[in-house]
Amino acid sequence: MQNLAGKVAVITGAASGFGRELAVQCAGAGMKLALADRDRDGLGATLALLPEGTEAITHICDVSKPCDVDNLAEATYARFGAAHLLFNNAGVAVSGPTWTTTLDEWKWVLDVNLMGVVHGVRSFVPRMLAQGQPAHVVNTASAAGLVSPPGSSVYCVSKHGVVTLSECLHHELQLEGAQIGVSVLCPAFVPTGIGHSERNRPAEFADANPQGEIYAEAMRKAIAAGKLTAADVARITLEGVQAGRFYIITHPTIKKAIEIRMQDILEERSPTNTLRVNPR
Ligand SMILES: NC(=O)c1ccc[n+]([C@@H]2O[C@H](COP(=O)([O-])OP(=O)(O)OC[C@H]3O[C@@H](n4cnc5c(N)ncnc54)[C@H](O)[C@@H]3O)[C@@H](O)[C@H]2O)c1
Repeated sequence: MQNLAGKVAVITGAASGFGRELAVQCAGAGMKLALADRDRDGLGATLALLPEGTEAITHICDVSKPCDVDNLAEATYARFGAAHLLFNNAGVAVSGPTWTTTLDEWKWVLDVNLMGVVHGVRSFVPRMLAQGQPAHVVNTASAAGLVSPPGSSVYCVSKHGVVTLSECLHHELQLEGAQIGVSVLCPAFVPTGIGHSERNRPAEFADANPQGEIYAEAMRKAIAAGKLTAADVARITLEGVQAGRFYIITHPTIKKAIEIRMQDILEERSPTNTLRVNPR
């Protein structure tokens, strides 16, 4: 999708980080916006950053709830009559050893990061197919969807899931002859609110990993040290969409770790800890 002006973008997780910057840059490109998040105040702050005259709606939506995402699709089509560019972007992160990761954390993170994308696809893609115009879906995975660093199993499982879901979706839409492109966004560490995802943890999933902090502090430091900004990621993402690129890998240095993982698999070697994550 090359020409964005006048088209409609739907962005989940639009109250912070990548989602907020995508909103600002999509508005800058002349797009109309449907902005969704569970954080009402953050959505208001994003709205305040948009150029004057931007046509935008905000929608309180918990992406882990299929009815919320369906309501987002209804509100988008009621207001704009179409959706051309969908960013399934909302996400949360937890850290800690796999064997002490609580069932609450498995449920919370998989419901938001993986099922949130599933709900976005289920609510929007049938409507996009029916609308019969070019459209594009961008699913936010992570470099953690392509490699497997220690202390991140629940997050990595969710993001590897988003990568393979996106690959399957791409093949299916090609076979269907649909005018709908797919991209999977795989950034490495970028300073945003992701290291403080606890703010988004619902009360019913309160049981946290008792050993989470062993890895969480190192993760927060790596995130804070990230050289690219959320605005850089948004720019690279929109360039990738316009170029029709499926894999959007914002940090090229991560490709070495991906290559080593692939070689480990092909040669049936034990996995290499390429990111050297060892908080002890
Ligand atoms: N920042 C990084 O280093 C990094 C790297 C790779 C991938 N990612 C991914 O990028 C995406 C955006 O994260 P970010 O880095 O901008 O972090 P962020 O915390 O700044 O933004 C995440 C947004 O998602 C929203 N959100 C959380 N749970 C939600 C739910 N259940 N329903 C609706 N909205 C919800 C939050 O309110 C927040 O506005 C996430 O999927 C994250 O996993 C981030």
